[in-house]
Amino acid sequence: MKKCIAVLAGDGIGPEIMKEGLKVLDTIAKKFKHTFEYKEALVGGCAYDKFGHPLPDETRKICDSADAIYFGAVGGPKWDSLPAELTPERGALLPLRSIYGLFANLRPAVIFGPLADAASLKSERLKGGLDILIVRELTGGAYFGKNKVKSLTLKEGTVQGDYAVDYMIYSVPEIQRITRVACEAAMKRSKKLTSVDKANVLESSKLWRKTVVDYVQKNYPQIQLNHMYVDNAAMQLATNPKQFDVIVTENMFGDILSDLASAITGSIGMLPSASLSETGFGLFEPIHGSAPDIAGQGKANPLAQILSGAMLLKYAFGLGKESNAIEQAIMAVLEDGYRTCDIACAATPKDKILSTSGMGNKVAEYLE
Ligand code: IPM
Ligand code: MN
Repeated sequence: MKKCIAVLAGDGIGPEIMKEGLKVLDTIAKKFKHTFEYKEALVGGCAYDKFGHPLPDETRKICDSADAIYFGAVGGPKWDSLPAELTPERGALLPLRSIYGLFANLRPAVIFGPLADAASLKSERLKGGLDILIVRELTGGAYFGKNKVKSLTLKEGTVQGDYAVDYMIYSVPEIQRITRVACEAAMKRSKKLTSVDKANVLESSKLWRKTVVDYVQKNYPQIQLNHMYVDNAAMQLATNPKQFDVIVTENMFGDILSDLASAITGSIGMLPSASLSETGFGLFEPIHGSAPDIAGQGKANPLAQILSGAMLLKYAFGLGKESNAIEQAIMAVLEDGYRTCDIACAATPKDKILSTSGMGNKVAEYLE
C-alpha cells in the first residue's frame, strides 16, 4: 500500500516523540512492504515563529493533500500570551479539528498488564486489566461556541467589570453523530455505553441526554445505556474504573476525563487518540501536551505517539494487522521490563530505564 502522511511534529517534546513514531512506521513499512511518504510541516509555536501564524497555508496544503495527519503536540509558555487566535492551541489545533470536521475523538485508555505498578490505583481495583474507550465529541461545545454566536447582550447590571463568556452549544445532529460513533464502537465490544453529561444543571446536557436516549433506543436497542453526571463519572473513574466500557461525552468533559483515565492506566505518556471525520479522514495524536519542561532531554515517553501511529494505520488505512503488531511489540517491550522514567518504579533496574529514542529503538527492534 502506498500512502502519504502529513507529519506535524509541533513544539516541545513533539519533534522528539515524532521521530520515534516515524521510526516505528518505517519498520512497519519495511516489514509489511508498504510505502509511507511523509510530508513534514510546521505547526504551533514553531510555525508562528517562522511564518507569523501557527497554522500556515503551506501546512494546510500539505494536510489537504495527505491521506492522514500524524500530529505531535503544540504549545508552550513562549506563545501563551499571544492573541488567542495566534496561540498554538486556538490558532492551529482547534482549527485543524474544525476545518477537517474531526468530530469523533477516540481515546482508548488501556492498561498494559506489566504497567499495573505505574497505575495510580491499587492493583486490586484493576484486576484483570482495564480497557475503556472514551469517545469525545471534538468540534462542538464550549471550545467552538464563539463560532456560532454573533453577539451577546447582557442584562443591565448583571455583570460588573471585565467579563468573559463561553457558549456551550450542541445541536441534535451533532449529538446524534457522536452517539452513532460510540454505539458502533460499543457494538464491537461489550455493548455497554455510558453517556456522561451534567443534565442536572446544563441545558446543553439535557438535550444531550434526551438525544442519546432517543437515538440509542431507536437505532441500537441491543445496547445497554446508562447515564452519569460528569462529577460522579470522575469519582467513579478514580475509584471503580472497571465498571466502564465505552464512554461518550461532550468536548470539555471528554478532555478532562481522558486525562484522568490516563493517570489511572499508568501515565499520560501512554494514551493515543484518533480524531475522525464523517468520511474517515483523521488526525492522530497523543492526548498529552508538548511538555516544554522536559523537552530536548530525552525523557519523554514516545509510546503515546507510537500508539497514535498504530491508530493511524488501523483507522486511516485499514491496516489492522500492522496496528496490532505495534501494540504487541509494545506489550513485549514492557513485559521485558523496559520503561521510560514516567512509567518506571523504584524496583526498575537502571539499565532498563530508556530514553525517548531508546524506547523507540526497542519497539522497532521487537517489531523486526
Ligand atoms: C487535548 C488537549 C487539547 C484540548 C488542547 C491542547 C487544546 O488538551 O487534546 O486533550 O483541550 O483538546
Ligand atoms: Mn487534554
